[in-house]
Amino acid sequence: MDLGFKGKTALVTGAGSQIGFGKEIALLLAKEGCQAVAVTDINLEDSKKTAAEVKKLGGKSTALQADITKKAEVDAMVKKVIDEYGKIDILCNVAGAILHKDYVPLDEQKHEIWAKQMDLNLFGTMYVTRAVLPHMRKQKHGAIVNIGSGSTRQYAFGVGVYAISKYAIDLFTKQLAYQEGKNGIRCNCIAPGPAPTNFGAVLREGMPPPPPEQYNKMREEMLKAFPLGRLGKPADIASITVIMASEATNYITGQVIQVSGGNVM
Ligand SMILES: NC(=O)c1ccc[n+]([C@@H]2O[C@H](COP(=O)([O-])OP(=O)(O)OC[C@H]3O[C@@H](n4cnc5c(N)ncnc54)[C@H](O)[C@@H]3O)[C@@H](O)[C@H]2O)c1
Repeated sequence: MDLGFKGKTALVTGAGSQIGFGKEIALLLAKEGCQAVAVTDINLEDSKKTAAEVKKLGGKSTALQADITKKAEVDAMVKKVIDEYGKIDILCNVAGAILHKDYVPLDEQKHEIWAKQMDLNLFGTMYVTRAVLPHMRKQKHGAIVNIGSGSTRQYAFGVGVYAISKYAIDLFTKQLAYQEGKNGIRCNCIAPGPAPTNFGAVLREGMPPPPPEQYNKMREEMLKAFPLGRLGKPADIASITVIMASEATNYITGQVIQVSGGNVM
């Protein structure tokens, strides 16, 4: 099947983490034939590592730095991609994190953390999208894939404002799909279940890892809620993200796809 990536330029945010979804998505876009994959992260050194791997696969790549919560940095980053490649056909909004601890009752939560969480996951995604949109409109096509989260359907996890910020991503996806369809721009959202990356570092801060026996028991308990019997891997998220960015899905827009081994149905 031709995924239609020949000659396409993609921009992937959050592509610096060497064990995260963004890098895996960038590499798969290159493997599947994208001509150029620009990779950006708050951390330039990490972006450079990912860009080097994209180039090894034969694709062009540029490593960029931008904090997605800072409009000026985002605008400058998008301008660099346009200056270098002349267009952006595909945008994968991957950068994000959970910024608060789990199971904190509402009356003990701090407004600063709510604001930071919404700024990163929601407004950061909106800043990048807003900067890319005029270029996609001009060329009358574009595919945007946002990364949401299965936590929006997992009320028992108590992940609070993180889940709220990702629920907002679901709505943003649909709003954008509705608004931009007439301009040839599609927008979909991938909602991953838990996968061992760096995104939840704050959850573990100050907590020593449990002893192996306890960890294995907790893991076994958790896996009972996953019909496919395992947690996710970056490759599971990359494959569906790349398909949703491709021409194979050019009649699909405004959808939120749960990718969690059946944990969320
Ligand atoms: N891993 C999971 O269990 C899981 C589950 C559901 C959703 N997600 C979502 O997947 C996305 C990718 O996370 P991941 O799991 O690959 O984690 P990760 O931490 O491995 O990668 C996230 C990347 O985003 C970057 N980033 C963070 N803040 C940034 C900022 N302000 N500006 C630019 N870049 C920034 C980080 O530097 C990092 O490289 C996130 O949006 C996360 O919320 C992850």
